[in-house]
Amino acid sequence: MERAVVQITLFGLLLALVTTLPNKDDWDIYSFHINSTVTSRYATTVVTSRVANRMDESKEIEFQVRIPKNAFISKFRMFIDGEMYDGVVKAKEQAQQQYTEAVSRGQSAGIVSSVGRTLEEFKTSVTVAAHKKVTFELTYEELLRRRLGNYKLQIHARPMQPVKDFKVDVYVHEQAHINFIKVQGGLSTKALANAITLTHADKQAWVYFYPTEDQQKTCDSCGEQGMNGDLVIVYDVNRDTSLGDLKRSNGYFVHHFAPSSLTRIPKNVVFVIDQSGSMHGRKIQQTRIALIRILNDLAAEDFFGLITFDSSIFYWKRRLLQASMENLHSAKKFAEAITDRGATDINQAVLEGARMLNAHPREGSASILILLTDGDPNSGVTNLEKIQSNVRKAIADEFPLYCLGFGFDVNFKFLETMSLQNNGVARRIYEDTDADLQLKGFYEEVATPLLTDVAMIYMGGTNLTKTNFSQYYNGSEIVVAGQILDNDVETFIPQVVAISGTRTVRFLGTNATETVSDDRIQRVWAYLTVKQLLEKELQLSEAEKDKVKKEALELSLKYSFVTPLTSMVVTKPLGESTDVLHKPREGGPAGFGGPLRHTLDSLMLSSGRRFHGMSQSPPVKGVLRNIPRTPTGYLYMPADYMPEEEEEEDEDSVFLLQATDAATATTTTTTTTTTTVPLSHRFFVKADNLSIPLCFDVSGKIRLTLLHSRELSVSGDLDSVANGGFTNITIHFNTEQHIKIDTDEIIVRDGQKVTRHTGEEIITAGSLTVIKRNTEVDVAAGDIRIVILLHKTGGEEFLWPVIRQQSSDNNTEGILVLKPAVVEEVQQTPLTKLKINDQEIHVSRSSAADYSHFLAPTLPCWLISAEDALQRPLDDFIVTHL
Ligand SMILES: *[C@@H]1O[C@H](CO)[C@@H](O)[C@H](O)[C@H]1NC(C)=O
Ligand SMILES: *[C@@H]1O[C@H](CO)[C@@H](O)[C@H](O)[C@H]1NC(C)=O
Ligand SMILES: *[C@@H]1O[C@H](CO)[C@@H](O)[C@H](O)[C@H]1NC(C)=O
Ligand SMILES: *[C@@H]1O[C@H](CO)[C@@H](O)[C@H](O)[C@H]1NC(C)=O
Ligand SMILES: *[C@@H]1O[C@H](CO)[C@@H](O)[C@H](O)[C@H]1NC(C)=O
Ligand SMILES: *[C@@H]1O[C@H](CO)[C@@H](O)[C@H](O)[C@H]1NC(C)=O
Ligand SMILES: *[C@@H]1O[C@H](CO)[C@@H](O)[C@H](O)[C@H]1NC(C)=O
Ligand SMILES: *[C@@H]1O[C@H](CO)[C@@H](O)[C@H](O)[C@H]1NC(C)=O
Repeated sequence: MERAVVQITLFGLLLALVTTLPNKDDWDIYSFHINSTVTSRYATTVVTSRVANRMDESKEIEFQVRIPKNAFISKFRMFIDGEMYDGVVKAKEQAQQQYTEAVSRGQSAGIVSSVGRTLEEFKTSVTVAAHKKVTFELTYEELLRRRLGNYKLQIHARPMQPVKDFKVDVYVHEQAHINFIKVQGGLSTKALANAITLTHADKQAWVYFYPTEDQQKTCDSCGEQGMNGDLVIVYDVNRDTSLGDLKRSNGYFVHHFAPSSLTRIPKNVVFVIDQSGSMHGRKIQQTRIALIRILNDLAAEDFFGLITFDSSIFYWKRRLLQASMENLHSAKKFAEAITDRGATDINQAVLEGARMLNAHPREGSASILILLTDGDPNSGVTNLEKIQSNVRKAIADEFPLYCLGFGFDVNFKFLETMSLQNNGVARRIYEDTDADLQLKGFYEEVATPLLTDVAMIYMGGTNLTKTNFSQYYNGSEIVVAGQILDNDVETFIPQVVAISGTRTVRFLGTNATETVSDDRIQRVWAYLTVKQLLEKELQLSEAEKDKVKKEALELSLKYSFVTPLTSMVVTKPLGESTDVLHKPREGGPAGFGGPLRHTLDSLMLSSGRRFHGMSQSPPVKGVLRNIPRTPTGYLYMPADYMPEEEEEEDEDSVFLLQATDAATATTTTTTTTTTTVPLSHRFFVKADNLSIPLCFDVSGKIRLTLLHSRELSVSGDLDSVANGGFTNITIHFNTEQHIKIDTDEIIVRDGQKVTRHTGEEIITAGSLTVIKRNTEVDVAAGDIRIVILLHKTGGEEFLWPVIRQQSSDNNTEGILVLKPAVVEEVQQTPLTKLKINDQEIHVSRSSAADYSHFLAPTLPCWLISAEDALQRPLDDFIVTHL
């Protein structure tokens, strides 16, 4: 088939999009998945949308996704009628030509534009024939930045319709151990809270978000058009060695440096505040509020200065003074009285701020200049280049300049260039009710300097990203990537030299480089290099720009990044309209959108217990309350122990498994010849107040009640030997629908109608939705969503059910929805006894694979009997008529 070449470039207009929302009768988004994998703070996210044209005629089908500004798109594909159309990244000029031709033919252009503070929207469309389907797949990558002590992964979910098969899967892997992790954002509140599952185990964490179709319409920011909101995963990692985290793979390395055990150094800060007429109204009011709060936070050992400007300069004091109670009081009075008037003389004001700092040399301190403005210079020196060169001369690399651009009337590029030329960054402050918080938030990021003149030195390293940093602040992180000469680790010696107050400190780590096998290390290097080249380009004169641009372009092409210099070209079927989209080039160092606003209560999920290292002693004492059930399940349903099978001789030979005690957390396998000891299956029960969960074993060929409510009944068959989990799972919904799931197929009986399903598909029976995927079956019934994972280990296949969305009906019972037990530790180190409901119980330290995740990680647990764990006889959960 002949095809026309068509392009999709990312296009940087700040125009309001006229969003044509799809008409549900026309086309149906039947599946929408977001899959994000984060390793070493590098996030790769894949958005897959599957859409069917339900019409009798061909139809233009749209795909819209919002991605973080800081991210680069690295792949876009469409699948239509069994054919794949793969995007290719090309130089923008090249793509531009094709675009112009297309537009001159009257064809439409697709757009990527900035949306709000932190997102960009990617939008394209394709014509799909009657009753055909299209799959869109977009991949983007981003390096998460540490700010105020955490990393934030923002996932925007807005499929534009309620979707039957909707899910978000996030997997975080951090070799340095995840210190804490929680879920925030508008989608993690209220109605949707119980559709989120968060599990955290040392180096790994999982977040699953599986809202049902009904829920997608009823949540806060959702409506008939389905979901529209953010899921924000917030976490931090442990920081043990002072040199930080250094990983290498295939000759590339990435170094994350964020030492925590340093003392703060006193600072000298001068605030230069624009009070020109354009600041009138809420802006000046919020500036006053923010300034007063910031003054409140200055430490007694800090010195500060405060000047406001329009076409003239107004001083609180002509020099820096110590942040004593008295001085702060007087400065706050000055701040309260700031009024808007006059024009904007940025040049004079910044030079004066620099003069004040230069006139205040103080050994062992860190100086910072902060400019807040909302407009272009229109008084005094107004030539932008002249201002930049004056400021550069005045500051002379002595301290960083941070520029805060308030609103959209500022020439942000001018501020950004000026900050970068002076070792700082620029940030946009959005005109909104929380502008004062944005200002304060930015200040907090630089409030606690820990090091100055940080030099990151890598002997045996080459092609390094930026290595010199004027200051390092508490809560932030320095990241350097590069190549290792000849990939020789022996001669690769990293070290950091910096000044902490008056002392020179040196961070060394002889064997700190950890070798991993991960292509992403190289991509992190490419990502950082491109970002920094683009920043560098801003600071250069026209004549110098070309070389840097060329370098950035080559890397963008090689790593298939859609940057401001490249475009993605997609080949679509003949006769298609042309889309050209460019990546926006605004906003400053991307993602500088101020703190995320979605800091609403992070509900029960944030209380998800984390599993400390094996050697860590558990908390002192525990009291268990009846807290509402979370979808995390007080119960994880993991594992039994699967012995190696090679020793199996005949039917009589069965493996008896024992959990050994804590320290090693290994299990021993003993062969016996008893005929009656069947294989045991191990289940986790979450225990509030214990750092690791409880676990118990169930053995025998039995059928367990997994979940039982008014409408829904789910049971599962455990096998007596060989298998690791359930062989089949049976679901009854009302009296009409019955579903049997085994490792091969699904049998659905809906009234009189019986159907069998083996391939991937979506099956609807009454109000039940069953989504069969390759490795899992996803069942949505009312407000409950259960996923049945298909595990394959050692040649065996078995099923493992997980609750992804808990019912609001609290009359639900079963092994999947156990209430947590009330646990108290009776005696610690070594812990051997627990008190559950006032009863003392002996426990032993053990571990088990957690089959509620695909990777089945091994988690530690306290092993107790089923009766103690369930607080009732196991028989209550056994369905007798097998
Ligand atoms: C998500 O992406 C990762 C990495 O590409 C892949 O290994 C994993 O199978 C994906 N998960 C799902 C549920 O598709
Ligand atoms: C740095 O921040 C952490 C919290 O994020 C805090 O515990 C620590 O005390 C701070 N260090 C200094 C020197 O202020
Ligand atoms: C890395 O640096 C070497 C010179 O040190 C240069 O020849 C090579 O092209 C660089 N590689 C990349 C990918 O920039
Ligand atoms: C980085 O700092 C080191 C030590 O202070 C200095 O020798 C080097 O020239 C600096 N490099 C750059 C690129 O500024
Ligand atoms: C070097 O490696 C050993 C063994 O892995 C470890 O015990 C030691 O703490 C490491 N040293 C440093 C400085 O990281
Ligand atoms: C145990 O739980 C109770 C109530 O949930 C809480 O007040 C207490 O701080 C917890 N104790 C520990 C050691 O976590
Ligand atoms: C459960 O599955 C096993 C193996 O797939 C099969 O032999 C058995 O008959 C099934 N049990 C029921 C009750 O369907
Ligand atoms: C369900 O639980 C809530 C709060 O835990 C309680 O107020 C309500 O009465 C319970 N409903 C039923 C039917 O038990």
